[in-house]
Amino acid sequence: MSEVFKGRLAILGLGYIGLPTAVAIATRGVDVVGVDINPAIVAAVSRGEVPFTEPDLAVAVSGAVAMGRLTATCELPEADAFIIAVPTPFNEDRSANLSYVKAAAEQIASRLKVGNIVVLESTSPPGTTEQVCRWISALRPDLRMPLDGENGADVYIAHCPERVLPGRIMIEIVTNDRVVGGLTPKCAEKAASIYRLFAQGEILLTDAASAEMAKLVENAYRDVNLAFANEISLVCETLHIDAWEVIRLANRHPRVNILNPGPGVGGHCIPVDPWFIVGAAPEQARLIRTAREVNDQRPHHVAGQVVEKAQRFRSPKIACLGLTFKANVDDVRESPAIEVVDLIAKSLPEVEVMVADPYVDKLPKELSGRDNLRLEGAHSAVEKADIVVLLVEHDPFKTIRHTRLGGKVVYDTRGAWRQ
Ligand SMILES: NC(=O)c1ccc[n+]([C@@H]2O[C@H](COP(=O)([O-])OP(=O)(O)OC[C@H]3O[C@@H](n4cnc5c(N)ncnc54)[C@H](O)[C@@H]3O)[C@@H](O)[C@H]2O)c1
Repeated sequence: MSEVFKGRLAILGLGYIGLPTAVAIATRGVDVVGVDINPAIVAAVSRGEVPFTEPDLAVAVSGAVAMGRLTATCELPEADAFIIAVPTPFNEDRSANLSYVKAAAEQIASRLKVGNIVVLESTSPPGTTEQVCRWISALRPDLRMPLDGENGADVYIAHCPERVLPGRIMIEIVTNDRVVGGLTPKCAEKAASIYRLFAQGEILLTDAASAEMAKLVENAYRDVNLAFANEISLVCETLHIDAWEVIRLANRHPRVNILNPGPGVGGHCIPVDPWFIVGAAPEQARLIRTAREVNDQRPHHVAGQVVEKAQRFRSPKIACLGLTFKANVDDVRESPAIEVVDLIAKSLPEVEVMVADPYVDKLPKELSGRDNLRLEGAHSAVEKADIVVLLVEHDPFKTIRHTRLGGKVVYDTRGAWRQ
């Protein structure tokens, strides 16, 4: 019979991935200690609160904390298994910044005992799980590592990438299939015992590098497809053809499914992860690099279009609707909407730019300090504006009645107001 994990589990990083994972495991009767370097996050979780918005997470966290199954601390305790869910951003030169993973691995090394399992969940370039093993090994020469050869190991190290969709994390964390890649088959088997606690999807065992690469390929696939849609939009604009209509028609082909164009590609994952592939094989990953460049260019194009439209007015007022990186979430990380707004405000310093987002109650740091920019309610911003730019298709925006937009220049970058 397949083994199911028993014991105490520590999760390093209580963000969008670590906290839902902690809760998913805690509600299966395992004692989970959530560890974060940010004391405010630890304090919030200890009170049973969630420091960000994610449907159904708050009730699950307060329940797990009340039951005493989930605790939070800044100090990593001893445990039987450790999950690393810390950030993996990129550096200025777009190489992977593994400093958080290294710090987490080194903290774990100080607590590691024979029989422990270490799982890297953070999205990582190929070879990172091996690197985690080397970082730990350097500090714990007393332990036999999975990379040391065929004679068995004292600890088990694996990679299990996360592929949940923000806004649906609590559903997908349970229902998605999981890829579990071990440094050895035994490592994969041991790590899988954790996911058997709560995963209803299939658990697919593989080696660590394949698991790392599979996750990156998933996001590069999305990025390339989004770049295709964005390029179609650009071509159609140049040729004065309606891109949405073209895509609608093309998608009636039984084997064609073009995505929607937009103001750019945002979030923590899709604009970042493809660079890890480019970094690993720069000569070969030419399409992936170009897709990134096409998508990165998109906010500049959208802002340029708005600036052009503004020239038609003597003193225009512009309303930009949406700041988050996607609809119906509060996550503004790597948001192309922020970049568009920033570029518009910078290019038109004399023009009043109003920004509305039901999920954002204060201007993000990238936009603060601009005199011509302010946060405003959506209805009043639309009311006052000459130009209305829809950047994120939040549900409340979709219902803004067409009569409210009459007589205004409307730039719907998401196609949300199409009849
Ligand atoms: N957010 C997503 O939708 C998503 C989806 C799939 C994969 N991922 C990947 O999961 C990983 C985590 O992403 P996230 O969105 O949860 O990030 P996040 O920024 O929301 O959370 C990470 C947390 O880790 C904490 N942290 C940093 N170093 C630490 C350490 N040494 N010990 C303990 N805590 C530490 C930070 O304070 C932060 O609270 C990243 O690699 C990301 O690419 C994210």
